[in-house]
Amino acid sequence: MADFTSSIWSWYIGIVTIVSIVVLFIFTIKVGAKKMVPGEQAESVGHVWDEDLYELNNPAPRWWYNMFIISMFWGLIYLFLYPGLGSFAGYLGWSQLGQYEQEVKAANEKYGPIYEKFLIEDLKSLAGNEEALLVGSRLFSTYCTTCHGSDARGARGFPNLRDKDWLYGGEPDTIKLTIMQGRQGAMPPWGAIIDDKGIQNVAEYVKTLSGLSADPSLAAAGQKTFSQFCVACHGAEGKGSPQMGAPNLSDDTWLYGGSNKRIVESITNGRAGIMPPHRDFLGEAKVHILAAYVYSLSN
Ligand code: HEC
Ligand code: HEC
Repeated sequence: MADFTSSIWSWYIGIVTIVSIVVLFIFTIKVGAKKMVPGEQAESVGHVWDEDLYELNNPAPRWWYNMFIISMFWGLIYLFLYPGLGSFAGYLGWSQLGQYEQEVKAANEKYGPIYEKFLIEDLKSLAGNEEALLVGSRLFSTYCTTCHGSDARGARGFPNLRDKDWLYGGEPDTIKLTIMQGRQGAMPPWGAIIDDKGIQNVAEYVKTLSGLSADPSLAAAGQKTFSQFCVACHGAEGKGSPQMGAPNLSDDTWLYGGSNKRIVESITNGRAGIMPPHRDFLGEAKVHILAAYVYSLSN
């Protein structure tokens, strides 16, 4: 109810609910209490179809009437125990969030030790531990496949974790750090600094780095732009920098695509891939297993 700034609405809902139940109760008692007297002729409401089909006003069956009364009392008991009357939290203090947190706590107590026991093991040896890898693959399917794909081969903007090509480095500890802290790629946009022709030139040069076909004279002009603006992050030979997360441009592995269109797009608009941090979300023990699992995919 945090959206409501005044408690009037809470009272309004609570009072309307209680009053409705009480009025319905009185109405039901008044109208429904009428009993069927054996032998008595049921009263007709006066509607007749097909000459002899009458609509009769029989009293409701007893069992049905009693159920109705019981359900009203049940409703009142429920509204007393559980949240339902405006912002009244209910006598039991139950909430969805509370229940969720309780379940997570219980699961952590139950399954925590399964993860914790791997924490003491070195990542490289863990990457050869079949039990840990099985747990790792399950964790990966749950938490990582949305972005990195069910086969961990990634997609445009989401790196392939099965190859030996790493943005930030593929040592086990580096992978663990990536998953713990998250990463933020920061390729600045150059559209405002370099004109369209200059961008096409530097894109031609980028293509030559990985042996893609390119126009040699444009590439020669692009090389100057590259050494002026790009080497700080991508290195003099375009081999990239794990500290910056700047990709190697001299292999033919592309995070955002290696067509002319995609390369020009990367340079003009910049790129900002985000790998979210998982330390608080998953805890170190699970991340440790995941790091070993990811390491095992390419080793
Ligand atoms: C919301 C999408 C998303 C989720 C979920 C996600 N990742 Fe990532 N991950 C990325 C992106 C995007 C990058 C690349 C960041 C960049 O461009 O700098 C990345 C990068 C990485 C890298 C570094 C790759 C390299 O080449 O250095 C690793 C390792 C990794 N993720 C593992 C995981 C694991 C394990 C999980 C599951 C716990 C996970 N990721 C969940 C989006 C995601
Ligand atoms: C401040 C550091 C920095 C500078 C300067 C920089 N880049 Fe980048 N570049 C990056 C990073 C980081 C990425 C990866 C972005 C991501 O992970 O989302 C990247 C990505 C790219 C890509 C996409 C690669 C792929 O695999 O799809 C291309 C192409 C590129 N840069 C070309 C250039 C060119 C050309 C210049 C100079 C005009 C340049 N970069 C300057 C940091 C930089």
